[in-house]
Order: sequence, then structure tokens, then C-alpha cells
Amino acid sequence: MALKSFILLSMLLAFAVAQNRYRVCVSSTSQCQALELGDSQAICTPVESRVDCALQLARGTADVGFFSDEELLVLAQTQPSDHRVIATVRDVTKPGAVSFQAVAVVRNTHTNGLDGLRGSKYCHPGLGEAALRWSPRVEKELETRAANTDRCPDADYKFKTAEEMEVAALSHFFGDSCRPGAWSANATVDAELKRRFPSLCALCGPNSSCDYTIDMGVTVAGINNNNAHVKALECLRTSGDVAYVAWQHVREFFTVRNNDITGNFSLLCPNGTLLALNTTNLANTSAPCAFVSQHWSAIVATSARANEIQTNLRTWWPTGSNPSDNSWRSTLYSVLVPQSSTAHVTMEDTLLSPANFTQTSRPLTSIDSATTCVPPRVWCTVTAQELAKCNWVRAAAYSLGIKPSISCVQRSDTFQCLRDVRDRNVDFIATASNYGYLARQHFSLTPVKLVQNLHSDPNSFSRVVALVRNNSDITRFENLRGRKACFPEYGGISYVAFVRTAQVLGVLDDKECDYAKAVGEFFEGACAPGAQDASHALGQSNYNVTNLCTLCKAPNAASNFTCGWDHSNNLYFGNNGSLSCLANNDADVIFVDTTNITDYLAALNLQGSQFRAICSNNTLALQNGVNVDENCLLAYVVDSEVLTRRATLKRPARPVKPTNHTHITHPPPLRPVYVQDEAYNSISALLDTLEKYFGYAASSGTQHVNMEIFSSFDGTRDLLFKNTAVGFSEPTRATTNQPAKNYIELFSHLQACTGAGNNIPVPGLANRSFYSILTLVLSALLTRFIVY
Ligand SMILES: *[C@@H]1O[C@H](CO)[C@@H](O)[C@H](O)[C@H]1NC(C)=O
Ligand SMILES: *[C@@H]1O[C@H](CO)[C@@H](O)[C@H](O)[C@H]1NC(C)=O
Ligand SMILES: *[C@@H]1O[C@H](CO)[C@@H](O)[C@H](O)[C@H]1NC(C)=O
Ligand SMILES: *[C@@H]1O[C@H](CO)[C@@H](O)[C@H](O)[C@H]1NC(C)=O
Ligand SMILES: *[C@@H]1O[C@H](CO)[C@@H](O)[C@H](O)[C@H]1NC(C)=O
Ligand SMILES: *[C@@H]1O[C@H](CO)[C@@H](O)[C@H](O)[C@H]1NC(C)=O
Ligand SMILES: *[C@@H]1O[C@H](CO)[C@@H](O)[C@H](O)[C@H]1NC(C)=O
Ligand SMILES: *[C@@H]1O[C@H](CO)[C@@H](O)[C@H](O)[C@H]1NC(C)=O
Repeated sequence: MALKSFILLSMLLAFAVAQNRYRVCVSSTSQCQALELGDSQAICTPVESRVDCALQLARGTADVGFFSDEELLVLAQTQPSDHRVIATVRDVTKPGAVSFQAVAVVRNTHTNGLDGLRGSKYCHPGLGEAALRWSPRVEKELETRAANTDRCPDADYKFKTAEEMEVAALSHFFGDSCRPGAWSANATVDAELKRRFPSLCALCGPNSSCDYTIDMGVTVAGINNNNAHVKALECLRTSGDVAYVAWQHVREFFTVRNNDITGNFSLLCPNGTLLALNTTNLANTSAPCAFVSQHWSAIVATSARANEIQTNLRTWWPTGSNPSDNSWRSTLYSVLVPQSSTAHVTMEDTLLSPANFTQTSRPLTSIDSATTCVPPRVWCTVTAQELAKCNWVRAAAYSLGIKPSISCVQRSDTFQCLRDVRDRNVDFIATASNYGYLARQHFSLTPVKLVQNLHSDPNSFSRVVALVRNNSDITRFENLRGRKACFPEYGGISYVAFVRTAQVLGVLDDKECDYAKAVGEFFEGACAPGAQDASHALGQSNYNVTNLCTLCKAPNAASNFTCGWDHSNNLYFGNNGSLSCLANNDADVIFVDTTNITDYLAALNLQGSQFRAICSNNTLALQNGVNVDENCLLAYVVDSEVLTRRATLKRPARPVKPTNHTHITHPPPLRPVYVQDEAYNSISALLDTLEKYFGYAASSGTQHVNMEIFSSFDGTRDLLFKNTAVGFSEPTRATTNQPAKNYIELFSHLQACTGAGNNIPVPGLANRSFYSILTLVLSALLTRFIVY
């Protein structure tokens, strides 16, 4: 009895202690141990990103975390009434109630409010200017309100990027101006816009490439002539009509540097009123009116524990600065207060939700009623988790002011997405390169980006290998005729890699554009799961594909015929299914992607040494085993890509004009030419922008919103993009990324043969090397019109 009571008491005590400990979001796990030292009341909750922290707070698996000013805006969109802001994290070098204010300074002679800015000379500190880290939405607030760059009812947005729509509107609205910085995350697009809209760089100074080169005059103590805001104010003083700058620099400029001209300038308020600059208001850290007043970053806790955590923080950090005493309290400060050297924590009097907290400083129109000149681009997802990640990307992009906006939908599976992209119900999807061929041939899609894969990850990239048993009599591709083969999936990357290799080697007829027939007639029997499924139909094949299913194996002996393309209907589906097919002696050769092959072999209780590769140069690999070098592979390509639709047929064109080749006796047939869809450019530029803000290059502590598009989300891998992706690469042959180039070439070879599934007879071509030359010529011409 006594023991029982003791145990019960201990349990109650332990419970009480656990109740008094707070789970803190920590993104650097090295801080976890120090956080739990001694009598610590903090428990480490490791998170991958601050978005992850928000999800954990909402789920009740974390109690408190830090969020940046811009992240609070995202929370206001995604979790408006969850959580409470308990303290702000201020910068002691910036006195004032807000983090910064963006104001418009004009000459006193200015009339007619915001509309009076029409035709005026505009001085901007520059997009992406590092010192103050304004989000694009902040950088463009004056433009949005004055020039209505988010509303252009009659403008034609087709084929244009959002950046082009924006810059065209600005160039139309303002006179000669200086608006430095990158107008697009894509350097090519940026350079083109700068060339086409030179008036927006005309005020930057002599010989400028849209960067301030104006003479800044003598240096005055206490003011930095290299500061972009100071340069914009000097631009205003010497030649401009309006400068859009931070209030702190207006104060410097007019009190320290140019106090003699203060009386000639005013602030232009958002309501159109002018408020004269004078010593009284210049002495105030708070501007009399501003286009943006940014709240501070903050410490946010769950609604349930916000009060008690705030009470504790007051005692743990009595001065609001880091106790710096090597205690867990000090570690907690470094966790919850990044950049703690100049930080000060100020407790909030009223505990508001993120939505209420940001409502007064940065009220944003709800994401669903926001307008942009280019319509929202719709991202297709296939699971609820993927949809959730997409919606966070959408909210983060919206809060930052990234255009065009994104919208997210969920479909039952990848094929439904491919179909919906084709049918214009959605705009793009990121998908595995395994479906690259079906997407192009069957759904008329085209890549808008390929990924760059992580070289250090052995399961990154798609590597296709041809395997036979180690005791096989097969040594060359020629030996495969009349034998049996298993493929992971019909039309998948391994299937296509086999067709291409066999065509290059002259083992398959490269004039045969029906891949079902090519493979079906070559082998005596095969299993190519999905061959009978409409979603996998390649072109308009009249070939009876039963031969491509004869080796497939149903799980129960009762139903002996299957061509199913999932594990539950077909034991030989997938890469592990193909390995099993070969190991069971049901096939003589298999073509598989080596991703995770070690795991599959282990699961099937097989050894790599039971197999041997036949290399793409038509020799047997020197050793047994499944891991072969790049030269031996049938394909070494990126493992995923972003697809959008190909535009409708424009006009037939005559791509080849034979010059000095006597082989051709009559002109080749007309063939269809495809052009980019009207949405292509805006999606391409949008993806560049998303990579800039949410890709790995952005995540070095300077990110506005700590959202990682290429990483796990909420603990789940491979959502939207595979975790093996580290960035995008361009879907062109010019790319320096070899696996991306290989991928483009894999399809361009086949595409030259089939077009969009049309059988193009190539007359009088007995000579294969001549055909290769022709293919090159065709391809070279086609790259000008087709985006592969
Ligand atoms: C920029 O976009 C164009 C097409 O819109 C593309 O061809 C080019 O490769 C892109 N450049 C970069 C650096 O992303
Ligand atoms: C400033 O305003 C005064 C009159 O208030 C005027 O005489 C002077 O020329 C103005 N200076 C500039 C630089 O506009
Ligand atoms: C415009 O805004 C300023 C600053 O908030 C204010 O002082 C002024 O009264 C407003 N004017 C009108 C007409 O609302
Ligand atoms: C806080 O926000 C909620 C909606 O999320 C709103 O109903 C409420 O009125 C707001 N409270 C204040 C004080 O603004
Ligand atoms: C295809 O061939 C199989 C066997 O060779 C036969 O049973 C089947 O009827 C054929 N299907 C069609 C549509 O001709
Ligand atoms: C292949 O792996 C899947 C799961 O990834 C499993 O369901 C299936 O049974 C495996 N197939 C074989 C033949 O082991
Ligand atoms: C490979 O294995 C990893 C880890 O087990 C898994 O996350 C990934 O989805 C697998 N990839 C494929 C293509 O099966
Ligand atoms: C074929 O490729 C393999 C694998 O890279 C290599 O070891 C072999 O030497 C090559 N054979 C010829 C004849 O080029």
C-alpha cells in the first residue's frame, strides 16, 4: 500500500514537472542538449523549419517558438486564430515601435495625391536590397497602390511573365526613374526587361546598368553614401519627384545631411495627403504616415500555455536581454531570439493571435480575394499532405508578394493530374521522370523545369541498368531477340531507356515508332505492367499488347492473367517486381532503375552478385553485381521534373531542307510544330522565384519565410518534390547539368521519330548513320519550336 502510494505520488510529481516544462521549437539540434541542462524547464522539440514549428504548435506537440516578421504574416493566413504572440523581439539599434516604415517623399509642389505620381520621376532603393531585407510586397507597396500593378483588366497577359506585366505597367505609369535590383529571379528575363523598359533605369546615373551611379557628393559623418535608401533620396533631391524609402534613412538624410532643404519636401501619405517634413516630425522615430509599418519578429506560444510561458519568460529573462550566464535560460534565449547580440525582448501586454497582431501593422487582403495581372497558376498534388505543403507555399509566396499567385488542388493520382494539366483544369505538376515519356506522348505535356539532384545521395537520379542472371548465356543485346523480359512499368523510364539503347545499337529498328510493337515483337514474352491500361497507351498503337503481359504474375494463382500496374495486382510490378521476375527465372533480362536497389535485394533475400549488367556499349559488365559505372547504364538522368501542357498545334512546318544529301529524292513530309502554352513563361519564372525564396540558396538565415520547398514537410519526405532534388535546371540541351541533358536527349531522339505520337515515315533511309544525322538536324530545328 505504502509502495503503491509512493509510486502514485512519484507519477503525480513527474506529471507536474512535465507540466511545467515547455516544448520549444529548435531547428539546430546542437542546441538541444544545452537547452535541457540542469533544472531546465525547457524540452527540445526539433523542427526542420519554422513552418514545421507552426504545425507542431497547432497540433500541441510544441509550446513555443520564434517567428520572423514575415512568418507572422504567413501564420495570419494559414492559422489565423491559433497561437498567441507573447513577446516581440526588437533590435536595439532601431529604436521605435516598429521594425521599419516605408514612406514616400515628394516635393512640396506635388499635387493630386497618388494619382499625381503619374509621369513622375521615381527613385527606388532597389529590389532585393540587402540591408533592410524588405519583402517584394513591401518593396512594391507604393507601386501597387499608385500604379495599380495588381489590376490590369484589359491587358493581355498571355505568354507573359508576371514580372513583365508589372514592369510594363510601371514604365507606363512613371516617367524616367531608377528602380535597381533584379526585376526577375531569372537573369535572362531580367536583362530582357531592362532592355525593353529603359525608362525605369534612366535616372540611375551615367553609364549605369540600372544601379545608382549618381554623384553622391561629399561624405557627411553619420550617413552612409553607399546606402541604397540614401542614394534613392539623393536621386530625389537632384532629379526625382518621389522616393520610396525607409523612414530611418529619411531622418538621417534630412537632419544630418541636407537640413537646409527639409522645408522643400513632404511625405505623401497613402490617403494622398501631404505632410511637410519638419524638425518635429523628423525627430520622431515613428513616421507621421507610412505605406508599410512593419511589426517586429516575435515569440509565439500555443493559446493554452501563452500566459504561463510569458510569466516565466519575465522571470527567466528579467532585463529582456540574454542572461549570458551559461544556463539553460541563456540557451533558451539563443533559441527563441536569433541574432541575439542586438536583440531585446519586449513582453506584449495583450496576447493576440498572429492575425490580430498583424492586422494593425500589415493588413493583407485574404489570399482568395487577392488580385494579380497574371491569373493564379494551379499546382496539382496527389495526397493530402502534399496539398498541405502546397498551401503553405502558396500562403508564404502570397505574403511575400510573389506573383503570379499559386493555387493548389488535389487529384487522386499522378495520371489524373497529367490528364488535368492537358485538359487545362490545372497548370503544372512536379513528377517522377519515370512518367516523363507517358507525360510527353500520351498527355502532350512538356517540362518547364528539370531538377538538379543531390550527387552525394546514392538514391538520387534515375539510373537504368539491364540485368541478366550471372550464369546467363546472354552477352550482347542481339542475344535478347526472342527471349523474355520484365520491365517495372510500361512506358516507364526503364522501358524507354531500353528502346533507345536498342535503337542506337541497331538491335531495334529505329524507324519503328510504335514502342509497344517494337518491344512486343522483339521478345518472346514480357511483363510490362500497365501495357493494357488506357492511361499508359502510347500513341495510337494498333498492336495487340497481350505479349507484353504474358510474364506478369497475379498474386493468387486463380486469376492467372494480369497486366496490373500496382503491387497488389501484379507481383512483377515495379523495380523490385522485375528483380523478383528475373530471380524466379521467369525472364532472361530485366531493365530496372537502381534507386534503392540494395533495399529491394535485401527485402527479396537476393544478392547483387546473382546478376550481371549488359552495358549500353553492348558488352557484358566486367563483374557480377548491380552497381555499374555511368558508361554502362542505359540511362543516367534526373529523377523528376515539372511539367506543364504543350500548346495546341500551330501550323505544320517543313523542318528539313535537305541540302547536299543525295539520299533524299523527295521532300520529307510536313510535320506538326508545337509552341509553348501561354502559361509557360509565367510558370517558369514563378518557379525561379520560388527557388530564390524557398530553395536551398535562400535558407542561409536570411530567408524571409523559413519554408523549404525541396525538404521534408511535417516529417514527410518527397512532397511536391523528391527530397533528392536540390534545385531546378533548365529543360534545354544547353544545360550544364549532365543528367538533365541526358534526360532531354533521351526524349529528343524518340520525339524526332514520333513527334507527338504521329508516325512519321522517313523515306529512303537504309543507312542508320545518315538517319542519326537527320535526327540531329531535325532536333536542332525542333528545339526552336518545341520545348522538350
Ligand atoms: C530564364 O528563362 C528562360 C526562358 O524563360 C530560360 O531559357 C533560361 O534558361 C532561364 N535562365 C535561367 C538562368 O534560369
Ligand atoms: C525650396 O523652397 C524655397 C521656397 O520655400 C525655394 O526658394 C527654393 O528654391 C527651394 N529649393 C529647392 C531646392 O527646391
Ligand atoms: C491622411 O492621413 C494622415 C496621416 O495618417 C492624416 O493626418 C490625415 O488627416 C489624413 N487625411 C485625410 C483627408 O484623411
Ligand atoms: C481577432 O481576430 C478575430 C478573427 O480572427 C476577430 O474576430 C476579432 O475581432 C479580432 N480581435 C481584435 C481585438 O481585433
Ligand atoms: C490479343 O492476342 C491474344 C492472344 O494472342 C488474344 O487472345 C486476344 O484476343 C487479342 N486481342 C485482340 C484485341 O485482338
Ligand atoms: C515491392 O515493394 C512493395 C512496397 O514498396 C511491396 O508492396 C511489394 O510486395 C514488393 N514486391 C515484391 C515482389 O517484393
Ligand atoms: C528509397 O528509399 C528511401 C528510404 O527508405 C525512401 O524514402 C524513398 O521513397 C525510396 N525511393 C523509391 C523511389 O522507392
Ligand atoms: C563498355 O563499358 C564498360 C562499362 O563502362 C567498360 O568497362 C568497357 O570497357 C566498355 N567496352 C568497350 C568495348 O568500350
